[in-house]
Amino acid sequence: MSQDTHSNQNQGSEPVASEGHKVNWSTLPEDVFRVFETRTAHNSAVYLLPTLQEIQSRNPQMKLLDVGSGSGSISASFAKIIGPAGGHVTAVDVNPVVLERATKILSDKYGVPADRDWISFEIADGHKLPFEDDTFDVVHCHQVLAHNKGQWEILREMLRVAKPGGVVAAREGDMETEVFWPPLPGLLKFHNDLEVRVIRARGASTSSGRELLSWALKANGGNRSKIVTSFSAWSYTEPEDRKLWAQGMIEVALSNPIVCESNIKSGITEAEMDEMRDAWIEWRDRDDATLSMVQGEILMRK
Ligand SMILES: C[S@@+](CC[C@H](N)C(=O)[O-])C[C@H]1O[C@@H](n2cnc3c(N)ncnc32)[C@H](O)[C@@H]1O
Repeated sequence: MSQDTHSNQNQGSEPVASEGHKVNWSTLPEDVFRVFETRTAHNSAVYLLPTLQEIQSRNPQMKLLDVGSGSGSISASFAKIIGPAGGHVTAVDVNPVVLERATKILSDKYGVPADRDWISFEIADGHKLPFEDDTFDVVHCHQVLAHNKGQWEILREMLRVAKPGGVVAAREGDMETEVFWPPLPGLLKFHNDLEVRVIRARGASTSSGRELLSWALKANGGNRSKIVTSFSAWSYTEPEDRKLWAQGMIEVALSNPIVCESNIKSGITEAEMDEMRDAWIEWRDRDDATLSMVQGEILMRK
């Protein structure tokens, strides 16, 4: 298992756009879901855990909202922390397909008992959450803002549904800080020409990690004293992590015919895609291969 600056880490690759401008989360390949579903509160929300415990000790029946939960591994992990004492997690996502998947694997894969009311799932857009003001003790999102325009408005909406004294927590990758070894030309091309360029082209952010604080300030009216910010890092160094990451990248960006067609429209040739695929395979199999990416984090008190 690879390490981040806080804890054990086994994180996932973020998919690039499938249609040049928009990710179709319903059709992500199995390998990508497999990567996402290694995420837990303990490897992806370490910066939040002390605050979570503090809130839980004051209010065992605390309510947590996870926005853009995807197939729910982090949400389920929160549920296992707060559920047994009477807390509840509401996991929302715009995509019904990922929520169906989350519901199916909740008990068998994540170990959340089916007969307990620790977690519920709902379709909702982070821009317009279907909850009253002041509802949740903690409102969390992980790797969601980067895929949206108007990121600060989502944070403002998260603040709206947080209780006074509650907390909004967000963690976002900073794609431009991705570094890897060895510097294989196919990987450099993948990073610069495909990943970063395509994400920018669909209007999303490739520097969310470093921008997060500025979005948070815009969302809370500029009250810096209410925000704590930190950075950690994704780290893929161990063979199993490298295998997951490389397969995820190949599957999501270089295998699906629709994605490949979109890549070609963006000016990437078949030969370049072959070079990228070969580079990921070489990177996956080399003992000296490493990859890391900076992650921005904020905790914002309401
Ligand atoms: C990269 S996945 C992250 C999933 C999960 N949070 C994790 O870290 O594994 C992004 C998820 O956010 C969802 N999403 C993107 N924009 C959203 C929005 N505006 N409102 C709700 N969900 C959104 C997508 O449908 C997708 O499931």
